[in-house]
Amino acid sequence: MADDVLAGYRVTRQPYYRPVADEVALFEAAYSVRMPMMLKGPTGCGKTRFVEYMAWKLSRPLITVACHEDMTASDLVGRFLLEASGTRWQDGPLALAARHGAICYLDEVVEARQDTTVVIHPLTDNRRVLPLEKKGELVRAHPDFQIVISYNPGYQSLMKDLKQSTKQRFGALDFGYPEHAVEAEIVAHETGVSAEVADKLVAIAERARNLKGHGLDEGLSTRMLIHAGSLIAQGVSPLAACGVALVRPITDDPDMRDALDAAVATFF
Ligand SMILES: Nc1ncnc2c1ncn2[C@@H]1O[C@H](COP(=O)(O)OP(=O)(O)OP(=O)(O)O)[C@@H](O)[C@H]1O
Ligand SMILES: [Mg+2]
Repeated sequence: MADDVLAGYRVTRQPYYRPVADEVALFEAAYSVRMPMMLKGPTGCGKTRFVEYMAWKLSRPLITVACHEDMTASDLVGRFLLEASGTRWQDGPLALAARHGAICYLDEVVEARQDTTVVIHPLTDNRRVLPLEKKGELVRAHPDFQIVISYNPGYQSLMKDLKQSTKQRFGALDFGYPEHAVEAEIVAHETGVSAEVADKLVAIAERARNLKGHGLDEGLSTRMLIHAGSLIAQGVSPLAACGVALVRPITDDPDMRDALDAAVATFF
């Protein structure tokens, strides 16, 4: 019965996820004790794909919330809706997940204001409850409920970081760009390009990643390599594909673009 409510959140097809280290086993162990988990790592390195895969593997529905600055506690917890016949309570995504036993994934949680983030506190310690203050209800989390957040360690300023009291409620897994051969395997799988082309794309990314902090704010992500590969698979020339998908999005600085173009030309 309860499962019907979450029918739309089931991960029915196995997502492609290529394990990089022991993250699958560690997450399974964390889930078995319902430890709240934090996935840390740069943009486009597989965090969202990993949580989709784990939800599938654990047969739990997955409710994802993209966090943003204007998000309020009500957006997570729920609100009364005005209807012709009166008012009706509507659970927010966090209440829905807690009540019925889903994995709730709060993506880019630092984007939310700290006063919003604290609503997860009673759910992420041994109380495992969610007070719906406006409704006057205390939801006891379903035994299957787990909370997962993602966090990009590079982007935080002092103003915008999780409180220690939030951080310390979570276990954490570090994500990064996979080692060369694994990343090439992922790019080939996701785009259909040959192993040779995937290998070159990863080699370009590795050069560019060395420029992080020397003119580039962030490394080229696996996601960008997949963009480039999918253009190549469409018949776009590798040089043009790399320009569109790798070089131009990441920098507007003419010298940096030249340096990246040169890296691309070395391999294609
Ligand atoms: N280990 C992996 N196995 C399979 N696919 C992967 C893996 N790592 C990255 N990918 C691919 O990279 C793409 C980007 O990954 P994903 O969307 O999970 O990034 P993210 O870490 O959630 O980024 P963001 O922080 O921007 O949300 C995925 O769509 C997937 O194709
Ligand atoms: Mg993501």
